[in-house]
Amino acid sequence: MGEAGEERQRILTGVRPTGALHLGHYAGALENWLRLQDEYECFFLIADYQVSDHADDIERVREGVIEVATDWLAVGLDPERSHFVIESLVPEHAELTTLLSWFIGLGRLERNPTLKAEMEELEERGMSFEEAERDGKRQVVRERGAVPVAFFTYPIMQVANILMPRAHLVPVGEDQMPHIEMTREVARRFNRRFGYVFPEPDGLVGRVPRLVGIDGNAKMSKSLNNTIDLKDDAETVERKVMRMYTDPTRLRATDPGHVEGNPVFMYHDAFNPDVEEVVDLKDRYRTGRIGDVEVKRKLAAALNTFLDPIRERRAHYESNPAEVRAALARGTEHARTVAQHTMVDVRSALGLNYLDG
Ligand code: TRP
Repeated sequence: MGEAGEERQRILTGVRPTGALHLGHYAGALENWLRLQDEYECFFLIADYQVSDHADDIERVREGVIEVATDWLAVGLDPERSHFVIESLVPEHAELTTLLSWFIGLGRLERNPTLKAEMEELEERGMSFEEAERDGKRQVVRERGAVPVAFFTYPIMQVANILMPRAHLVPVGEDQMPHIEMTREVARRFNRRFGYVFPEPDGLVGRVPRLVGIDGNAKMSKSLNNTIDLKDDAETVERKVMRMYTDPTRLRATDPGHVEGNPVFMYHDAFNPDVEEVVDLKDRYRTGRIGDVEVKRKLAAALNTFLDPIRERRAHYESNPAEVRAALARGTEHARTVAQHTMVDVRSALGLNYLDG
C-alpha cells in the first residue's frame, strides 16, 4: 500500500469470462499484473459485457466469471491490494460507452486490426444466438449480418473500461494494443475539446507477447483448442506436452534438429528457470544427441513445478467459493464508487449537468 496521502497511479486491465486462463495469459500479461500490484492501484476487470458471442449461453458466462476470479487468486493476485471488478455490475461502463461513441467514427473502428481479425473469425465460425430465431431450424448463421452490434462496438466499451478509473497503464497481451491506441486518441481528443479529464494510458506487453499453441499455431487460444491451462493437472500437462508440435523435419533422434521456432523450446525458454539445462538441451538437439521425448519430459517437469503452487492455491479457493465471491463483491463496489466520481466529471465536461445550479 502507498503511504497515506500518496496517490499511486492506476492500472486497469481485464479479460473476457470465457473460461480457464492458460500459459499464454500468464506470460503475456498476468506476470506483469502480479509484479505491478504494489506500484500501482490495480483494477482487474472481468469483461462480461464483452461476451456477445456467448449471449445464448449465459450459464457459461456465469461459470466463466468465477473461473477467471479463481485463476486470478490462484496465481497470486491479491484482492486486498487490488480490485477485482465485474464489468456489468458497474453499469457506468455502459453509459460512458454511449457517450464516447459520439466521438468515434465507423471508419476508425473498421481500421482496428484486432476487431477486423476477430470479426472475420466470428463470421466464419457463425453466430449461434440467431439460430433459435430462424423457425427453430438448427442452423448456425454465417454472415456479417448475424454478428451482434455489441461485437462491433466492444472496442469502445474497452476504451470506456480503461478511462473509467483514469488508468495510466494497461498491461495486456499483444493483440489488445490497437484498443489501447484507440483509448489514447479518445482521451487526447476528449481532453482537448472538453478540458482535462483523462490521462493518456500506456500499454504494456509481457515478456512473451504472444505464446505459440501446443499445435504450433502462432497463438495459444481457447478457441483454437491448443492451450495448457493454469488449472490443468500434472497428467494433463504431461499428455499435452508429449503430443506438442515440434521440429517436423526431424525423423530420428540422431538428426540435427531446429531449436528456433520450435514450440517445445519456446516453452522451455518461457517457463524453465534452469537456464543451464535449457542450453544443454538445445545444444544436444541441434547436434542430434537427444530425442524429442526427453526434451518434452523435461519441459513437462518444468511446467508442473511452475504450476504446482498455482494448483495448490486454486484448490483452496475451489473449496471456499464464498471467498471468491467476496473478493469480487468488494472490488466491484469500490470500482463503482470510482466510476460514479468519473461520470460526474464527464457529464459536467460535456455539459450534461442540466439541473446543477
Ligand atoms: N478484450 C480483452 C480480452 O479479450 C478484455 C478486456 C476488456 C480488456 N476490457 C479491457 C483488457 C480493458 C484491457 C483493458 O482479453
